[in-house]
Amino acid sequence: MDTISVAAARDPQTVGQRVKLQGWVRTRRDSKAGFSFVEINDGSCMANIQAICDADLANYESEVKKLSAGCSVTIAGEIKESGGKGQATEVHAESVTVHGWADPQEYPLQKKRHSFEKLREWAHLRPRTNTFGAVSRVRNCICNSIHQFFQEREFLYVHTPIITASDCEGAGEMFKVTTLDLEQPPRENGRVDYAQDFFDRPSYLTVSGQLEAEIYATALGKVYTFGPTFRAENSNTSRHLAEFWMIEPEMAFYELDDNMSLAEEFLKRIASDVLVKCGEDMEFFNQRIDDTVLATLEKIVDSEFVRLPYTEAVEVLEKSGKTFEYPVNWGTDLQSEHERYLTEEHFEGPVILFDYPKTIKPFYMKLNDDDRTVRAMDVLVPRVGEIIGGSQREDRLDVLEARMKEQELNPDDYWWYLDLRRFGTVPHSGFGLGLERVIQFATGMTNIRDVIPFPRTPGSAEF
Ligand code: 4AD
Ligand code: MG
Repeated sequence: MDTISVAAARDPQTVGQRVKLQGWVRTRRDSKAGFSFVEINDGSCMANIQAICDADLANYESEVKKLSAGCSVTIAGEIKESGGKGQATEVHAESVTVHGWADPQEYPLQKKRHSFEKLREWAHLRPRTNTFGAVSRVRNCICNSIHQFFQEREFLYVHTPIITASDCEGAGEMFKVTTLDLEQPPRENGRVDYAQDFFDRPSYLTVSGQLEAEIYATALGKVYTFGPTFRAENSNTSRHLAEFWMIEPEMAFYELDDNMSLAEEFLKRIASDVLVKCGEDMEFFNQRIDDTVLATLEKIVDSEFVRLPYTEAVEVLEKSGKTFEYPVNWGTDLQSEHERYLTEEHFEGPVILFDYPKTIKPFYMKLNDDDRTVRAMDVLVPRVGEIIGGSQREDRLDVLEARMKEQELNPDDYWWYLDLRRFGTVPHSGFGLGLERVIQFATGMTNIRDVIPFPRTPGSAEF
């Protein structure tokens, strides 16, 4: 007898097959006619399968009638057509093996719906709920779609280091990695002597794989990274994690326009794959979480993204007549309220802003001829705001060195990065997509902590 998934067993084509199903009980109902309905779920899809368990099963009284939510079982039997609502098939049990009980007095996931805040305290149990099962399947679909998108376009998947000595974003939000004794670090002239540390220098968890991706792009053409990223920003928002996953494509010979087109195609592909492959889960999100998610995803697929220089975006905001918590004027970084106004209210769709003031962007972005703006781009989408950040990179050695000095970085520390401009420099571009932001966008989940299995945020690292 083959073991098949609940998803497979729900397909009417399996009617007549004798199979084994393995999973966790969601509910048990006893009929007066002397048999029980046991619904099981195995995570392969949102829906359960119903098993009809007759009183003549050997363990009917001793075990089957004691099953409750959370018990783990193997049910063997024949798949039959079902007359029940919302299901084409059901299984008529020939045997029920109980692997583990879940005391209904103690098991927290009973009929009562718990808040997402409460479920965060039970990160070890929440994947057993409908919402977190659905989020996990959508997350998996998006990851698969990301790899396919790049592989089909001949990008190489490269692995960049998690521990690094260089600060890519220059924002000083890095976690330090050290084996020094924090109680009594070695000192030299009163300062901690990192020459005695594991890597002989201050080292950190990476905030971005971009600088290393540039090394590979300027040798192999088109590459992408997909890995964990760490930021020690103490911002307790619904869109920031201390540990998140980022996808960073980097392309030799791409200018900013090519970069924007790739980003747009990329997001469209993710949205259309989610719509096609996660129909059942997306229906659930649309009904239970946010009734605009399906329409928003369809819009991403069908509409052209607006492309607007930062300078014009500031004008739109100034003319909006809205009172923002943070005032806007040329030269200030846009806050999420501004980004959301642009994409949700003004343009009612995805917007790519570009050519930002050089003072608010990192050293590596290509300087425009106006000497005030750089070839940066941010992709903004409704509900989430910034989902992608990227740029064309500065490929001129002298300009890059000058920009580093302006930002008080020591060019000597980046000698290898400068070498890429010394030897066969090329125009090149890339961007970073935050995986959890795109999952938030697709599912409508309002808090980023609920789209990653084990969220790392200030003060929270249990599990
Ligand atoms: O805009 P960011 O900081 O860009 C970079 O790191 C570039 N080096 C990328 C590149 O050009 N290769 O981050 C990129 C994206 C953001 O748009 C956002 O989606 C996500 O990463 N992100 C975060 N997601 C969750 N929690 C955080 N703390 C995040 N910080 C950035
Ligand atoms: Mg950014």
